[in-house]
Amino acid sequence: MTTNPTLEILLNRKSVRAYEDRPIPEDVKQQIIHAAMRAPTAGNMMLYSIIEVTDPLIKEKLAESCDHQPFIARAPLVLLFLADWQRWYDYFELSGVEELCRRRGEPMHTPQEADLLLACCDALIVAQTAVIAAESLGIGSCYIGDIMERYEFHCDLFHLPRYVFPICLLCFGYPTQQQKERRPTERFAQEFIHFKNQYKRLGPDEFAHMFAHMEEHMRRDPSLPAPYENIGQMMYLRKFAADFSIEMRRSVRAALSRWLEG
Ligand SMILES: Cc1cc2nc3c(=O)[nH]c(=O)nc-3n(C[C@H](O)[C@H](O)[C@H](O)COP(=O)(O)O)c2cc1C
Repeated sequence: MTTNPTLEILLNRKSVRAYEDRPIPEDVKQQIIHAAMRAPTAGNMMLYSIIEVTDPLIKEKLAESCDHQPFIARAPLVLLFLADWQRWYDYFELSGVEELCRRRGEPMHTPQEADLLLACCDALIVAQTAVIAAESLGIGSCYIGDIMERYEFHCDLFHLPRYVFPICLLCFGYPTQQQKERRPTERFAQEFIHFKNQYKRLGPDEFAHMFAHMEEHMRRDPSLPAPYENIGQMMYLRKFAADFSIEMRRSVRAALSRWLEG
């Protein structure tokens, strides 16, 4: 198989949660953000904003509010990615769109669920572009999905208006030697993920095959006996029904109801 530097970067990337104690130079940060802003964006509207968190106190708060992950406070660069319709909606109002709609005898539309999802797509694509740009410069990164929790707290912390939703946080830094040497995580085999033309719902045999490797690993885990018997039960308890997931559901519902109210 042929390779090239871009594929090498994609194939070797892994999440990095331990960083060398050295800052990312300002011009390198600029390169990352500049490259990220070349990401595709729906209708070329750039339905996102990026907040660089430089204040150590705010980083400390995030390390707590994002499900107690202390490495956030130690990350040399922390970027918050926001799905953002506020900028465009404010501009519509400033541009006399309300009056335009009145003249046309139409109600003025407000951002709805679909608009939020579209803005989330934009924000996540720009975030992942930043990940790859950073990786190409020798800088590791880790997503923090828990930024979707504690909606009210994060709105206060960053002064987020109604049509702005914090979709992900990214921590960046130069990986420690140990991180560089760490083996990449495994992925499911492509046959369970990549279909042609139609969705394929998996059956018991396929699931057995898909999880065989993980089940084998679990059986060798010295921390057993555990309150679960297989990967399905483990993932349900550890992820899907965990406190952080329950809080995320509550928080996103609160965000949606503010977005849609009135
Ligand atoms: C949307 C999203 C949210 C994530 N949230 C967290 C997080 O809160 N904390 C964390 O340590 N890793 C987080 N990760 C990183 C994943 O755990 C990681 O990508 C996964 O275990 C695969 O490992 P790899 O990135 O090293 O290949 C997140 C990744 C994504 C894409």
